[in-house]
Amino acid sequence: MSNYLLEARQLSAGYRGQAVVHDLALQVAPGEIVCLFGPNGSGKTTSLLTLAGELPPIAGSTWLLGAECKAPLYERVRSGLSIITDERSLIFGLSTRDNLRLRGGSVADAIALFPELEPHLSRQAGLLSGGQQQMVAMARSLAARPKVLIADELSMGLAPQIVSRLLASLRQAADRGVGVLLVEQHVSQALNVCDRAYILNHGRVVLSGSAEELKRQSADIEAAYLFGHQAAEKTES
Ligand SMILES: Nc1ncnc2c1ncn2[C@@H]1O[C@H](COP(=O)(O)OP(=O)(O)OP(=O)(O)O)[C@@H](O)[C@H]1O
Ligand SMILES: [Mg+2]
Repeated sequence: MSNYLLEARQLSAGYRGQAVVHDLALQVAPGEIVCLFGPNGSGKTTSLLTLAGELPPIAGSTWLLGAECKAPLYERVRSGLSIITDERSLIFGLSTRDNLRLRGGSVADAIALFPELEPHLSRQAGLLSGGQQQMVAMARSLAARPKVLIADELSMGLAPQIVSRLLASLRQAADRGVGVLLVEQHVSQALNVCDRAYILNHGRVVLSGSAEELKRQSADIEAAYLFGHQAAEKTES
């Protein structure tokens, strides 16, 4: 048993037996927002999908709610895991209201979290802006009252104010005890709301620490996004 809500232990993950993430050790405690940063192709999504039960581990284990877990995604969702990806996974032909109901939470709870969606309840989700669609995705995930939330680049292509709005809603959820694992390209904004972060490069953690420690190195982290190899070599030297 462990006290963490989500954990990777010596996890190797990848596709068709070929690992692209190596020996990952990561923990998310109740009330914590943990970020996973790294350049394109460094293994962030692969790590999240494996922790969510969507991909089987190649080696090592994933732990959910304090116990080792081998269940597939849909069973983990029933135990209190929620995952939000950059594909907003709304049903565009349905109204905002009907989309908000899709995860089993109440529309009233979703609107309490994102009151700005109320005027759009009867509109087709496909007609909402990208930011509004992502608010719907976030509102319905949070309204289902998950214990653990995994979010992959939920602010992809969105305006800075919307990014702050979405990150603030995650902070509120964490402050109620939810454990959040977040992949986010907006490093400095994410470091302002998260507790800890890990930086992946070529599938390995090259840097990790508290948000406070990492804020002092945010220029290095942002450089790692732009110049994958060079930044990793610099970190190691
Ligand atoms: N379905 C797949 N089959 C085979 N290889 C894959 C698959 N998906 C991703 N990969 C490979 O795994 C590695 C890690 O990819 P991953 O999507 O986890 O990176 P990422 O850090 O999320 O990148 P990005 O920032 O671009 O989203 C890459 O080399 C990628 O090409
Ligand atoms: Mg990705």
